[in-house]
Amino acid sequence: MNEKYINDKKNASITILGIESSCDDTSAAIIRDGVILSNVVAGQKVHEEYGGVVPELASRAHQQNIIPVVDRAIVRAGISKNEISAVAFTRGPGLLGSLLVGTSFAKGFSLAAGIPLIEVNHLQGHVLALFIKEKVGEYNPPKFPFLCLLVSGGNSQIILVHDYLHMEVIGQTIDDAAGEAFDKCAKVMGLPYPGGPHVDRLSQQGDPHRFTFSKPRIAGLNYSFSGLKTSFLYFLRNNLKENENFIEENLNDLCASLQHTIIDILLNKLKKAAKETGIKEITVAGGVSANSGLRNALKENAKKYHWNLIIPKFEYTMDNAAMIAITGYYKYLNVEFAGQDVVPFARTQL
Ligand code: KG4
Repeated sequence: MNEKYINDKKNASITILGIESSCDDTSAAIIRDGVILSNVVAGQKVHEEYGGVVPELASRAHQQNIIPVVDRAIVRAGISKNEISAVAFTRGPGLLGSLLVGTSFAKGFSLAAGIPLIEVNHLQGHVLALFIKEKVGEYNPPKFPFLCLLVSGGNSQIILVHDYLHMEVIGQTIDDAAGEAFDKCAKVMGLPYPGGPHVDRLSQQGDPHRFTFSKPRIAGLNYSFSGLKTSFLYFLRNNLKENENFIEENLNDLCASLQHTIIDILLNKLKKAAKETGIKEITVAGGVSANSGLRNALKENAKKYHWNLIIPKFEYTMDNAAMIAITGYYKYLNVEFAGQDVVPFARTQL
């Protein structure tokens, strides 16, 4: 293992295979010297009829997908297996059974190829997705220190990023995540899972000021979304008593007002964080950062408060292995390797 590592250092070309299997997407990517060569993602349709991810079904689908997905990533990158310098995998947080599939595969690959194994925190991966270079085109990464609003299905955090591998969570949700608020409220309106993209689409035809929902009063930079979810549910229940077609007749306005409230909650704390830290380098990451309303609101605030706003490419906001590979790349440069005794964690902090 050391020999291969030293040779790569000499040749100065570092090729990382990244593996992501924390939830319901099986993904593999190849990154060479920070440049993306391939990023393959296999989604899992099996959960749609259940209105949420079923953990046991997710692990089984990962088992079926992992070999063909890795194979495709290597072929698309146009490299051979023995050019890979190290294998990086998501250690957590996520669904334990799903994480086990990626972890076991990465361990086996590392042993068989005699290359280092690198464990990656999924949340750190979302942040470092901002540093993925394309083969062609501009490279415009944020400058340290910067703030990252990390909003996904499982997390809502404000992260102060000091360096590639040194991050500090300065605010986070004390209950549900923003993505969960989108998904759970969408579910009670009868929209398919995951509801976030549907709410986003329907909002574009709706009035964001038609309905108002309760906003949390949480001290500091922390978030809370469970109150909003409950108030949304009661609001629908009360109105449905009077008019059983209330949801269908007001769907666009309901989505727009809900989205407006979630964005308002997210941005209020982000503005507070920017003010308190004096940092104007602002970024966003995670699945919810695909939301068009959130992107617009961030742009408006950037103009108003003179932020240098960096929004990642759409394909790197959702769960993907490219972000795991880029994190693996920076850990490789820092010689941060894991042993074969490493185990996945369902819950981890940054
Ligand atoms: O980061 P991510 O892909 O995965 C996990 O957290 O596991 O985020 C998924 C979340 C889901 O809650 C989904 O509804 C939300 O991101 N999402 C969106 C949009 N696209 C995805 N929420 C609002 N608007 C969108 N356009």
